[in-house]
Amino acid sequence: MKKILIATLAAGAMVVSLAACSQGGSASEDAAGGGALVGVAMPTKSSERWIQDGKAVKEQLEAEGFKVDLQYAEDDIPTQVSQIENMITKGAEALIIASIDGTTLTQVLQDAADAEIPVIAYDRLIRDTPNVSYYASFDNYKVGQQQANSVLNGLGLVDLEGEPVDGAPAGPFNIEMFAGSPDDNNATFFWDGAQDALKPFIEAGTLVVKSGQTDFEQAATLRWDGETAQKRMENILTSSYSDGTKVNGVLSPYDGISRGIISALTDAGYTTGEEWPVISGQDAELDSVKAINSGEQFATIFKDTRKLATAAVEMTVAVLDGGKPEVNNEKDYDNGEFVVPSYLLDSQIVVKDNVNDVLVDSGYWTEEEIG
Ligand code: BGC
Repeated sequence: MKKILIATLAAGAMVVSLAACSQGGSASEDAAGGGALVGVAMPTKSSERWIQDGKAVKEQLEAEGFKVDLQYAEDDIPTQVSQIENMITKGAEALIIASIDGTTLTQVLQDAADAEIPVIAYDRLIRDTPNVSYYASFDNYKVGQQQANSVLNGLGLVDLEGEPVDGAPAGPFNIEMFAGSPDDNNATFFWDGAQDALKPFIEAGTLVVKSGQTDFEQAATLRWDGETAQKRMENILTSSYSDGTKVNGVLSPYDGISRGIISALTDAGYTTGEEWPVISGQDAELDSVKAINSGEQFATIFKDTRKLATAAVEMTVAVLDGGKPEVNNEKDYDNGEFVVPSYLLDSQIVVKDNVNDVLVDSGYWTEEEIG
């Protein structure tokens, strides 16, 4: 039934686009997309990066001649599932999905497969389903290494590439560690990359995790929520630092979590300057870039959402053309059913010294926005 409906819609779309052509149709409708609908499911508008992602994917799909149904689910899993169901019903010919919980889309993606709709997993791997065509993301293990290296760099132990520096201080430095949402496949990749970079320094006694909370489960932050992170940081400061010792570094996997950590530190009486800890982040969100300039946050990881959008749109075009998109990783992203062919992009560490070079010169933020 669904297939008939889709075939009818597709035939209708062809008639419409042929009609548009014969009337000298618009450039975009003559392009690859030919007016076909693509559903784009994003997790939440509460984080700036996903707004940037949605905007970039929509603009680039439209430039290719597609129509776009862009939806945000405010981090609510049933909402995301029903948004995707809706896209299928509306006759979407492809889906681009940044999942909330990567394990909850198995049934709806079976429906997509039954309707022969290809699915691109966007930034976050979709797990436990054979019905994902391709995955576009960043090298998430490397992102984790960069987060750890930025903390180590702020403490004077390595350069920004993670290479040891001459005359590095012996420490010991107190650090605490945060991880992302346990239902997001990326969170473990970030954590593993970071742990591999930090481990030698912990084993050598240069770094001490004073709270003793060194497991992913202890460090995880459900839904990447800043307030959850703030509470955990407050608890750690009370339980492990009320003897007057200071925390010198905090591994944070996302700018929103970093902002929660900063609030906890400020409330506990820390002030920026001498004894303020080195804090990492991710996503180059505007408030956090400002916090880097003011010295509250040491670093963030810049992942250019415009390039990720391009990768996902190119995959969509190739799949709908019956071709094979370019991939550069066919080993690391096993979703529990199979290794999903992936295209992984590079990320960059941003510190105060290179804010302008990396973020302003590339046009990601303007000088006025950063302030
Ligand atoms: C993304 C990060 C982002 C986090 C929270 C992850 O899946 O890869 O860039 O910081 O979600 O939104």
